[in-house]
Amino acid sequence: MTKKAEHAIEVENLTKRYGDLLAVNDLSFNVRQGEIFALLGPNGAGKTTTVEIIDTIRMPTSGKVNLFGMDVTKSKHEIVPRIGVLPQGFSSFDRITVKETIQYYSRLFSCGNTDIDGLIELVNLKDKTREQYKNLSGGLKQRLGIAIALVNDPEVLFLDEPTTGLDPRARREVWDLMLGLKEKGKTVFLTTHYMEEAEFLADTVAIISRGKIIAMGSPEALIESNAKYLVLTLRSVDEKAFDIVRKMGFESVHDNHKDIRVRVEQMDDVQKILNTIQEGRASLLSLDVRKPNLEDVFLKLTGETLHKEPAGGVAQ
Ligand SMILES: Nc1ncnc2c1ncn2[C@@H]1O[C@H](COP(=O)(O)OP(=O)(O)O)[C@@H](O)[C@H]1O
Ligand SMILES: [Mg+2]
Repeated sequence: MTKKAEHAIEVENLTKRYGDLLAVNDLSFNVRQGEIFALLGPNGAGKTTTVEIIDTIRMPTSGKVNLFGMDVTKSKHEIVPRIGVLPQGFSSFDRITVKETIQYYSRLFSCGNTDIDGLIELVNLKDKTREQYKNLSGGLKQRLGIAIALVNDPEVLFLDEPTTGLDPRARREVWDLMLGLKEKGKTVFLTTHYMEEAEFLADTVAIISRGKIIAMGSPEALIESNAKYLVLTLRSVDEKAFDIVRKMGFESVHDNHKDIRVRVEQMDDVQKILNTIQEGRASLLSLDVRKPNLEDVFLKLTGETLHKEPAGGVAQ
């Protein structure tokens, strides 16, 4: 019988080895019902392996994973009807239309009562209903993939890198779709290597690097506890302005002939820098002060950057 779970997902000391390779190393975390949870990390960090164990596709080497309070290794048949999955690098049949594709998957998963038209409307593909899969743009294909993941009206949705390779506008549309699903009460488990995606969407972010979670919390809390400074960028054609900032002793994180980027503790420091530049009669073109972001947190914790696009990645 289904036990009422406090959390949608509970992961305890999850480890996965592929031969000698330790792909997932002792992960523990919970996902609350109704939240967007993002597993954020670079290519090869262990995101897909983790998702595929939670959504019952792979077996763990050790550890315990509960979904809806049930052990994923023992209750696959009870769990699968209640979840939806968009695998990494999803693709479908080239010559089948949008509507036929959703109908096909609805039948495949024996969901007799899928509201096909409602789903098409939800993912905003109404004017593409009769378009063949092969003619859809990357963003439309991903939205169709999300529609397929929703044919059984799941409580928990797993989206593995849903926006990788999309242009900024298509990415934004997928983001809006995810927020809409959260509003409908769905729990969304997302993996991504885009820090701005995790920062914008997620209630909880777990940063994963080399199979280990290195930090976890709300994006705001992660930034607050790991990166307390502000990032000030000054642009000038006057080398004297840069000399003045360097001499003031602020830590420079980027420095070239056009601009200088320094970490400052508070807004008072910005004022101090501006005053000193003015007193030194140096000129400035522009200045920008921003709060640190998750990329800064990742850089601080690992000394590495979250790189842009996965190079090919692991076949899924
Ligand atoms: N089926 C597999 N067999 C062997 N090694 C694998 C397999 N799947 C993934 N790996 C390896 O496990 C590590 C984690 O991969 P993966 O979970 O796909 O990470 P991510 O999704 O974060 O890119 C990588 O080093 C990858 O090459
Ligand atoms: Mg992956």
